[in-house]
Amino acid sequence: MTAKLFSPYTIKGVTLKNRIVMAPMCMYSSPNEDGHVQNWHHTHYTSRAVGQVGLIIVEATAVTPQGRISPQDLGIWNDEHVKGFQELVGLMKEHGAKTGIQLAHAGRKAVLEGDIIAPSAIAFNEKMKTPKEMTTADIAETVEAFKKGAERAARAGFDVIEIHGAHGYLINEFLSPLSNKRSDEYGGSAENRYRLLREVIDAVQTVWIGPLFVRVSAHDYHEEGLTAEDYITFAQWMKEQGVDLIDVSSGAVIPAHIHVYPGYQVKYSETIKNGAEISTGAVGLITSAIQAEEILQNERADLVFLARELLRDPYWPRTAAKELGVSIEAPKQYERGWI
Ligand SMILES: Cc1cc2nc3c(=O)[nH]c(=O)nc-3n(C[C@H](O)[C@H](O)[C@H](O)COP(=O)(O)O)c2cc1C
Repeated sequence: MTAKLFSPYTIKGVTLKNRIVMAPMCMYSSPNEDGHVQNWHHTHYTSRAVGQVGLIIVEATAVTPQGRISPQDLGIWNDEHVKGFQELVGLMKEHGAKTGIQLAHAGRKAVLEGDIIAPSAIAFNEKMKTPKEMTTADIAETVEAFKKGAERAARAGFDVIEIHGAHGYLINEFLSPLSNKRSDEYGGSAENRYRLLREVIDAVQTVWIGPLFVRVSAHDYHEEGLTAEDYITFAQWMKEQGVDLIDVSSGAVIPAHIHVYPGYQVKYSETIKNGAEISTGAVGLITSAIQAEEILQNERADLVFLARELLRDPYWPRTAAKELGVSIEAPKQYERGWI
């Protein structure tokens, strides 16, 4: 049997050696609260590169200080951040991984001192701050911050940029009618709610020619919220704008209950892939090789993203190859122990 999981995948001239992607995961490990890369990030991300992950997407990285989820988040709002990312990218690439970064703004889910901003002045829940409604000047500044972040990511040598449009953070807050109650051109119709993301994608593309992913929450789990069907329209627009792949997650724009089970979000990836004829990544409780292989062979996604399983097992690609009965290249230092 030839495993699709271990077949290469090329996007805009960037070839991933397999279909295994490390999903972005916040490490909250920048203790000086300045957004800089630390030793922890070197160890953590490089371990997965040694483990033969095809594409490693560095955690949600804030494009402005106010856009951090926590004070310990990584940041890319300053030229001084570039050097740390350059070193990190170099380490990951030394082991054959391709590298991505998730550019993010937390919107109303920022847990920070001072003002936080969102499309509308509605708190996520009673424990969180009420954000300030963004002015059009705030929106323009935020779009510019995503552009600057992308420019710095390019300078750092990343292969892929992923825009964080999921999990109830700023872009998701604009997309969903549950969190966007604006009456200007950024609220109301789907086209208006999409406007911020449209502007961010366009701005990023003025400085970035490489593969561009967008992570979305394809279901709000609320009767007045968005579903994967709504995201087909957004995905068609993203495709027209030149986005290469939609990384399909779900939820967290409001505090709704989510029923989780193995592969619980794969169906949304399939809906968007078929509905918009765009490449997708599936994520969410994907833990076994056979499950990943099924998703790929049945064309329910083009890439599989793993988060927590890669925390438990940084060498998951090796584990998966054994499960599927295929052999994959080992780091040469580990050849004697790889089989
Ligand atoms: C520790 C941790 C941090 C996370 N941080 C991010 C993040 O920075 N950006 C993001 O889009 N998702 C984040 N997620 C969500 C994961 O990327 C993933 O979508 C989710 O955990 C489901 O996949 P899994 O079942 O393989 O863990 C995080 C998850 C975990 C466990």
